[in-house]
Amino acid sequence: MICLIAGTNRPQSQTLRVTRILEKRYKALGVATQVLDLNGLPSEIFLPSAYTEKPHSFAPYSDAVLKADGLVVVTPEYNGSFPGVLKLFIDMLKFPESFERKPVAFVGLAAGMWGALRSVEQLEGIFKYRNAFLFNERVFLPRVETQLNADDSFTQALTGQLVESQVKNFVSYVEQVKKLHG
Ligand SMILES: Cc1cc2nc3c(=O)[nH]c(=O)nc-3n(C[C@H](O)[C@H](O)[C@H](O)COP(=O)(O)O)c2cc1C
Repeated sequence: MICLIAGTNRPQSQTLRVTRILEKRYKALGVATQVLDLNGLPSEIFLPSAYTEKPHSFAPYSDAVLKADGLVVVTPEYNGSFPGVLKLFIDMLKFPESFERKPVAFVGLAAGMWGALRSVEQLEGIFKYRNAFLFNERVFLPRVETQLNADDSFTQALTGQLVESQVKNFVSYVEQVKKLHG
C-alpha cells in the first residue's frame, strides 16, 4: 500500500487536489493507496498533552504510515518551508520506526516560481535523519493555480509526463525495496 500525505490542513487546498490526482494515477496502475488528509486530523493532537499521551484518534494515521510500503509526501510552500501542521504530524508519529527504510517520494507545489523546492528539500533532511529511503525523482508544481484544468488534467503536457514518470518509477522502487528489505 502506498500512503499519500496531503501536507496541509488548509481548507480547499490545492495540495489535497494534487494528492487526489496522484492517487488516481497510482490506482490506475493497480496499486492500493490510502490518502492521509491533514485537514482531517483529530483536534486532540494539537493539545500539549499529545506529546506524552498519543490520542487514540491519531492511531489510524500513525498505523497507516507504519503499514505503508511507500509514502508520497505532497507539500505546499508556506513561508519558504513546509506547513507547520506537517511537522506536527511527523512529530506525532511513532518514533523511531515510522520512516525506517521506508521509500518516500516528494511532490511540491506553490503559488510562487520555485514550486516548493525549499519545502521538499527541508523535508528531505528530516526523512534522511529518520533513515527513510529517499526517492530522488521529485516533482514540483510552480504557479500551481495555473497548472490544473477543471477536470483535474494538467494544463501543460510536460507536468503530466513528470507526474506519470514519478508515479511509475516510484511503484517500481517500492517493489524493489520490498524485495530487498521485506
Ligand atoms: C500560510 C501560507 C504561507 C505561504 N507562503 C508561501 C511561500 O512562501 N511561497 C509561495 O510560493 N507560496 C506561498 N503560499 C501560497 C501557497 O503556495 C498556495 O496557497 C498554494 O495554493 C499551495 O498551498 P495550498 O495547498 O494551501 O493551496 C503560502 C500560503 C499560505 C496559506
